[in-house]
Amino acid sequence: MEAWSSTQVREALTKRGIPYVCFTFPKLIARLAYKPHFKVLDATQQKEVNLQEDLDALIVRPIGRGSLEELVFRMDMLYKLERSGFYIINPPEAIEHCVDKYDILSILEGADVPVPRTAATENVAEALKAFKELGGDVVVKPIFGSRGMGATRIVDADIADTVFKAITFHHGVIYLQEFVAHGHSDIRAFVVDGRVVAAMRRVAEGWKTNYSRGARPSSTTLSKEFEDLAVKASKAVGCKVAGVDILEGPTGPKIVDVNSQPGWKGLQMVTKVNIADEIVNFVLLELKK
Ligand SMILES: Nc1ncnc2c1ncn2[C@@H]1O[C@H](COP(=O)(O)OP(=O)(O)O)[C@@H](O)[C@H]1O
Ligand SMILES: [Mg+2]
Repeated sequence: MEAWSSTQVREALTKRGIPYVCFTFPKLIARLAYKPHFKVLDATQQKEVNLQEDLDALIVRPIGRGSLEELVFRMDMLYKLERSGFYIINPPEAIEHCVDKYDILSILEGADVPVPRTAATENVAEALKAFKELGGDVVVKPIFGSRGMGATRIVDADIADTVFKAITFHHGVIYLQEFVAHGHSDIRAFVVDGRVVAAMRRVAEGWKTNYSRGARPSSTTLSKEFEDLAVKASKAVGCKVAGVDILEGPTGPKIVDVNSQPGWKGLQMVTKVNIADEIVNFVLLELKK
């Protein structure tokens, strides 16, 4: 899915005659006290690229899964590039917020965006109390997770106890959230530059509505309320491009996730808007500023 969306961006650039280099983080080398500070081998042209001299902007497609050390190093490089005046989308700060589910939701709550009742702790006893407070029906998620991976619905206190102990045994943080009864579908709003450019309803067989887990995209038109919410959520975490997940629960819409590097293969099936064009046009506009 991610590769598909990246290919779309490359096509959008090619159409406009804009040269690009495509690489993954492990291909990069960062140097200190000698230059160039960032270098990568352009595999197609077998030519070395000096990021700061040869490129104008960096569109970060998935920062990738990796160890904490790898992720922190990738973030460090992005921050250094940004400090040197290099244009990066999304801004490193937004990417950093969005890899962390606790961080996203705490920022959203602070911005008066509705989020489900959620608790995060390293303490099993506290987590068990929260399990009860949240109605004994919760979704437990890895704080650094994506694509619905590792998210588990728990309705049984014994299972909660075992799962929470297993998480802390592996030095994970227990992140639990009230189950929002969404009737097996949710809304994905795609925001570019403070505007919802496209949206879809994701219809699933079970409660996880991730496209990567087989949910079916269906076209939908968002209400003004939902559009405003998605824009507010993406702005709050500092994203210029974002995929915002909205669950329609019994007590109104709740934002569960803001993705700073969303794929759009599913969404592109149900919208006439060319999403890669929207992103590329936006970046070109920004570079002219
Ligand atoms: N609190 C919740 N109640 C009900 N379903 C949820 C809840 N949180 C997440 N989900 C479902 O699980 C999916 C994945 O959760 P999400 O928080 O978006 O993490 P990910 O980064 O893995 O996409 C959501 O799209 C939604 O369908
Ligand atoms: Mg999600």
